Amino acid sequence: MDRVCGIVGYVGPQQALDVCLEGLRRLEYRGYDSAGVAVVCADGTLRTARRAGELRNLEKLLADSEPLEGTTGMGHTRWATHGGPTDGNAHPHTDCQGVLAVVHNGIIENHVALRAELEAAGHELASATDTEVVAHLLEDAYDPVTGLAAALTVVVNRLEGAFTLLVTHAGEPGLVVGGRRSSPLVIGVGRGETFLGSDVAAFIGHTRDAVELGQDQVVEVRRTGYRVTGFDGLPAETLPFHVDWDLAAAEKGGHDYFMQKEILEQPTAIEDTLRGRLTADGRITLDEERLSDDDLREIDKVFVVGCGSTYHAGLLAKYAIEHWTRIPVEVEMASEFRYRDPVLDRNTLVVAISQSGETADTLEAVRHAKTQKARVLAISNTNGSQIPRESDAVLYTRAGLEVCVASTKCLLAQITATSLLGLALARVLGTKDGEEVAREYDTLEAMPGLVAETLTRMGPVADLARELSPSPTVLFLGRHVGYPVALEGALKLKELAYVHAEGFPAGELKHGPIALIEQGVPVVVVMPSPRSRGVLHQKVLSNIAEVRARGARTIVVAEDGDDAVLPYAEHVIRVPQTPTLYSALVTTVPLQVLAMEFALARGLDVDKPRNLAKSVTVE
Ligand code: M6R
Repeated sequence: MDRVCGIVGYVGPQQALDVCLEGLRRLEYRGYDSAGVAVVCADGTLRTARRAGELRNLEKLLADSEPLEGTTGMGHTRWATHGGPTDGNAHPHTDCQGVLAVVHNGIIENHVALRAELEAAGHELASATDTEVVAHLLEDAYDPVTGLAAALTVVVNRLEGAFTLLVTHAGEPGLVVGGRRSSPLVIGVGRGETFLGSDVAAFIGHTRDAVELGQDQVVEVRRTGYRVTGFDGLPAETLPFHVDWDLAAAEKGGHDYFMQKEILEQPTAIEDTLRGRLTADGRITLDEERLSDDDLREIDKVFVVGCGSTYHAGLLAKYAIEHWTRIPVEVEMASEFRYRDPVLDRNTLVVAISQSGETADTLEAVRHAKTQKARVLAISNTNGSQIPRESDAVLYTRAGLEVCVASTKCLLAQITATSLLGLALARVLGTKDGEEVAREYDTLEAMPGLVAETLTRMGPVADLARELSPSPTVLFLGRHVGYPVALEGALKLKELAYVHAEGFPAGELKHGPIALIEQGVPVVVVMPSPRSRGVLHQKVLSNIAEVRARGARTIVVAEDGDDAVLPYAEHVIRVPQTPTLYSALVTTVPLQVLAMEFALARGLDVDKPRNLAKSVTVE
């Protein structure tokens, strides 16, 4: 079962292998356990090549083999779960005759029963994957008169689970057929050529005209265009859109890593997310509003759901939304929310945050909320993706393409977006008038400049990270809005540097975690501002004193002018003075750089950390 793979398909005048390999290079952040291609060759045969490991292993194999020449093809980059990351489990998978090939993203939940049925009928399956059953089911369903799309329509109706599938057949050159349920697939419309991709990055070097495939749809892609039908075989509606970023966004632009580039793009991500949101009468506009002001006025509880870094954006949102609206806000990991029967009704607003818009846990949380009649608002960076499509209102972050698996600029854009949402709600509910909203918006508009200023100070943070990089454990402490920042700092270090890192509320220290402190353990502390949170500031200083007394090395993130930290800190990382509710936008930045440089000092690939993939499209 392959959960979060990258898929590309091509039909046109170019060599399909070149187009597919280029697409796979851009999709590799979706999985890098193996890669493979299938090409319908000029001689009427179907040929495949597959290799475990990163894409470069496949490229080497292809360079040493007879060329795969043909203008119809598809490719796959895999993030393995069941069925190890081996050559034999790499996609594409073929039928017994080797005339049709399948690539797949998702889970075919009834694959065990289907495999048993196929084997009883004499099919020989060669891999440990769920995907291979599709190739053999297609073999049985295929009729040259009705064609490949008809066969796929029959087969998808036998599958349970979430899937995107692409198939090619030696007998139908010039055709790639795709099908999807709860897993993404986008068509790229070029001039005399047509593409398929898990996301638009697959074909962004060729076209920015795209079509989002809907739920339970099958698409036939030819040089001349595409045809979409439902799983019932009837013609179906699709959603065309123009991609508002270009190839440069999918390139490193002179940086060694996407992560470096994306960290530097953060001021622009915030600025773009804010642009044009404030109306003359002090209201904040969303992108899609299928909820009226009257609907919003009925809201008496907010749940924010998300996963990973996005969950941290949710934790930060609680402070702002509660402060401005006086409505209670609960924040929960999407994977937990869905299964514990939370108390929801039509007066509950569920805010689903997802950069990709396709995270399965968050999508299922949205679906559950809707069954309970709650209103759902999505915050996403991906136009037209599944979570926004299934929500009642959408606020898009405009961070541009984020390639690095570790989220940076999208998180800061999400924090910005949740602030906008808090202000929008406050205005509708009447807890803030137009002038107050406009004043907050002005303050938010200053944030890109403050983040840019923070970025100019990162040289010493990189030096410090290199110095700390042999440490096997790093702890992070914070209070109030500094607590989610501490969690984010720890998550970044875990996922990039593979060291034990944990974030704690500083006040919790004495209730257990302080036992972890021993001589030389680095403890990174995110200080509250002494200007607005004087009492808390003093308490956190005491917490630093407590860990120092037990041998910790203290690294303190403190705002300019906070000299009270100096006697407590071995290293001080300075950030500009910022209003408390927006301070995470600056305090997160040095923790991102710390994690990145720490990982680089350990010789690790920060863009593609082990075992991870960018979008997690099944639960
Ligand atoms: O696409 P999403 O925002 O729904 O993704 C959520 C998480 O998977 C994501 O934030 C993850 O935690 C990142 N790798 C963190 O850097």
